[in-house]
Amino acid sequence: MKEKVTLVVGADSMIGQAMITYLTDAGELVIGTTRRPEQTEKDRILLDLSENLSGWKPPRPVKTAYICAGVTRLDDCRRDPLRSARINVTGTCALAKALMEQGAFVVFLSTNQVFDGRIPHVRPDHPRSPKSEYGWQKAKAERILGQWPKNVATVRLSKVLGPDSLFTEWSRFLKADRIIRPFTDMVLSPVPLDTVVSALGRIGDRRSGGSWQISGERDVSYARAAKWGADVLESDSGLVQPWSMAEAGMAMEAVWQNTTMNTDRMREELGLEPPPVKWTIEQAFLL
Ligand SMILES: NC(=O)c1ccc[n+]([C@@H]2O[C@H](COP(=O)([O-])OP(=O)(O)OC[C@H]3O[C@@H](n4cnc5c(N)ncnc54)[C@H](OP(=O)(O)O)[C@@H]3O)[C@@H](O)[C@H]2O)c1
Repeated sequence: MKEKVTLVVGADSMIGQAMITYLTDAGELVIGTTRRPEQTEKDRILLDLSENLSGWKPPRPVKTAYICAGVTRLDDCRRDPLRSARINVTGTCALAKALMEQGAFVVFLSTNQVFDGRIPHVRPDHPRSPKSEYGWQKAKAERILGQWPKNVATVRLSKVLGPDSLFTEWSRFLKADRIIRPFTDMVLSPVPLDTVVSALGRIGDRRSGGSWQISGERDVSYARAAKWGADVLESDSGLVQPWSMAEAGMAMEAVWQNTTMNTDRMREELGLEPPPVKWTIEQAFLL
């Protein structure tokens, strides 16, 4: 019988790429998927979530599948709700079901945006109350996949900071003595990509289903984050020129009071604690 593999759906996503490196370094046999025929190569297989995936079969039996692909931009979901739902809900759930039926454990990545941001440190069993199309789609997929709590882990993430975030760009600007304009009224409670990847790896390894949440310990505004960034880079603080989302004419779905979630399960069962938000942001400016 063929050896079972770990499947990373969305090998080119920020989190998928990091997962592949983490799993490969841990000695796992990994297959990544791409929707782009030109990207298929050894250990990359073609999979488009917008297609009919019921009964989809991977080339080798799958032990664990990490579903990292999807339409991840709020604007893209809002502009084309039908197409994005076909990917984020129909395709994702059909694939997860097909994989589960073949014995795989599925790790599905979701978001704090299944909530409306009114409650800080929101508990995992709090009723979902999304306010964006993206949030609605994730909430719907969660509800469907929640029927199989033994076979599916749903992992809600707040903002994940990887090697190419907005703060990387701001860092470049500040180093070039250029002005940055962070929002005073948009908040984040970020977690580093490394923390997310090791949490996902442990969840998949233990086949611990049900709801998981990963966020920083508190929310800060992008204006404060930018100030921390300028301080850590020892840049001129006058280069940080905050303004509000209203002034910038931003859509109100982006206004968020709280993005923190309760992370007790992560701490208690995985022994993992996200680093302090200030440290996470400073590191993102230094990357
Ligand atoms: N990053 C965050 O801060 C964050 C926060 C909360 C939740 N999440 C969730 O975590 C997951 C991974 O996020 P990410 O930021 O790593 O994603 P990402 O970098 O935005 O990448 C999304 C991936 O989905 C792929 N994709 C889009 N449409 C597809 C389709 N029809 N079929 C197959 N693949 C398709 C894209 O393929 P191409 O590369 O070919 O374009 C891309 O690789 C997502 O479910 C996201 O909602 C992320």
